[in-house]
Amino acid sequence: MKGILLAGGAGTRLHPLTLAMSKQLLPVYDKPMVYYPLSTLMLAGIRDIMIISTPQDIPLFKRLLGDGSQFGVTFEYRTQSSPDGIPQAFLIAADWLDGSPCALALGDNLIFADHLSAILKQATQRTIGATVFAYQVRDPERYGVITFDTEGRALDIIEKPADPASNWAVTGLYFYDHRVLEFSRKLRPSARGELEITDLNRMYLEEGNLQVERLGRGCAWLDAGLPDSLLEASAFVHTIQARQGMLVGSPTEVAYRMGFISRQQLIEQAQNIGKTELGRVLMDLSLRDRS
Ligand code: TTP
Repeated sequence: MKGILLAGGAGTRLHPLTLAMSKQLLPVYDKPMVYYPLSTLMLAGIRDIMIISTPQDIPLFKRLLGDGSQFGVTFEYRTQSSPDGIPQAFLIAADWLDGSPCALALGDNLIFADHLSAILKQATQRTIGATVFAYQVRDPERYGVITFDTEGRALDIIEKPADPASNWAVTGLYFYDHRVLEFSRKLRPSARGELEITDLNRMYLEEGNLQVERLGRGCAWLDAGLPDSLLEASAFVHTIQARQGMLVGSPTEVAYRMGFISRQQLIEQAQNIGKTELGRVLMDLSLRDRS
């Protein structure tokens, strides 16, 4: 399975923070925002990753992330010249996808859950259909909203409903089978002029092949698109890391745990950021695993 990290967009709700720089490069506590969804894709075992952003921001992403070898993965970069919708990512990636199944992670979404790797593994192993994740929020009208029947099966998904029928929002992490490009090519712009990810998900739903995994109360899903959610995301990461001494959203740690990099590579990366707490925790990890 391949993975796309979609990190373009206009970031207008974060102006002036995003006037000169991509939202996804802003800090979420001690790491750039994009590290979090990148870590999630890597935790799903995905090593072929395309990063899509705006023409002006792509050079900055390349500077931050390079070719991916430091994390034992391969990065490919493409531009999206204007933010015409999330599923446009598949059209941009068409030749690179080459008929593969594909996961898509939005660059401003952060998921933290117990057993996340097991949940992700299931999603990558499904050969037909799509998997999305639903999470209960107080402000469902900002998202795609799912309704369920009495047996818990997904009935419908509606994008940004004025009067939401449930508080289950679709998160910014999606897994699709090899037909994702074919389905994306059938999409037409919505009334707001964008290709809608909800329309793509509805195609899978209508043929009975949309798996909706509900993330329970032990999980956190944050999207850092507003000043308050950006601050909350930073506070959340800080709280977990300070209390548990464990990292949230470190691609280096995930790479090591997934066996994508060696212990020696882990040590080198820890040394490169040796003056930071992040570096210290990574170094501790290398020592712990030796004993
Ligand atoms: P949004 O938060 O919906 O849009 P945005 O980032 O442009 O922000 P704003 O509404 O404040 O102007 O986008 C969700 C994520 O998807 C975010 O990481 C940006 C990304 N995205 C793209 O890369 N390209 C697109 O065409 C769209 C619609 C979103």
